Amino acid sequence: MEIVESFESTNPREIEDFRLKYLGKKGLVAGFFKSISQISPQARKPIGQLINKLKKEVFQKVKRLETQSKFDSSEPKVDDVSRPGFPISSGNRHPIAIVKNRMIEIFSTIGFGLSEGPEIEDDWHNFSALNFPKHHPARDMQDTFYLQQPCGHLLRTHTSTVQVRHMETHKPPIRIISPGRVFRSETITARSHCLFHQIEGLYIDKKVSFADLKQTIHYFCEALFKNSKMRLRPSYFPFTEPSAEVDIYWGLETQADYRITKGTGWLEIMGCGMVDPNVLENCGIDSNEYSGYAFGLGIERIAMLLFQIEDIRLFYENDIRFLSQFKATL
Ligand code: DAH
Repeated sequence: MEIVESFESTNPREIEDFRLKYLGKKGLVAGFFKSISQISPQARKPIGQLINKLKKEVFQKVKRLETQSKFDSSEPKVDDVSRPGFPISSGNRHPIAIVKNRMIEIFSTIGFGLSEGPEIEDDWHNFSALNFPKHHPARDMQDTFYLQQPCGHLLRTHTSTVQVRHMETHKPPIRIISPGRVFRSETITARSHCLFHQIEGLYIDKKVSFADLKQTIHYFCEALFKNSKMRLRPSYFPFTEPSAEVDIYWGLETQADYRITKGTGWLEIMGCGMVDPNVLENCGIDSNEYSGYAFGLGIERIAMLLFQIEDIRLFYENDIRFLSQFKATL
């Protein structure tokens, strides 16, 4: 026969009150044990057994009620609505995607649309249409991955291929950027990899000048690096004339600045120039009527600068301890 009262509930607070009433420090069971010394020694044993029975029954009952209350949802739960919610862990973007998306965002605010092209290309789109002479060293087997099938095809070595494809299929005005993967037969080191990402930009219209190019690059540097100190150095690319390389002023504040700028404070970030009239003609655009500029930059290089990453190989290892550090707050 049970000796404990016939209490039933699925309300956690009521169950806890019930438990405390009997088993709490100042509860009934503790009280009974305390007063046991006041009764005659002969009666102590049966009374003690009775108190222990009561203690055990209450304990078992509380356990049963607690288990029932967990499963019974009909009873309204006493919930603390101010308690923080359960954290939902969502993934985050790859640092290359963060930088790429930011660049797309910056150029889209000044009217550049997106255009993409295939990673497997032919000689025409990767080299010939871009004014590379037949024996240019970049065509070398050592730099370019040539495919056996289909014969004459290759993995694009730069995103300038998309310029050609876009001009072949669109009439000016053209204002596009083209992000994508490119491939070069390079030894893999902390600074170079055989697969990396570029963004290409192209603007073709009537009377586009070098000043327009400079202003666009200036705007881009200001937006991405919060730094508008830049310079253009004369350079050479087969597909632009004149051609230039863009440096931004990084500064010489820390030892790392000395290392990455080789003690100059300046960092090269992209190539650019006025599209060579030969390229326009190769793509069916009248070079007497139209002119334009193009630019191209490596995304890894920029991501390494912005996130202070010293080894390019980290981007491709997919180590979650590395990838989870980057937040899209550029
Ligand atoms: N295609 C060049 C490269 O892979 C980058 C480049 C330089 C693109 C100058 C351009 C340009 O459009 O005008 O290194």
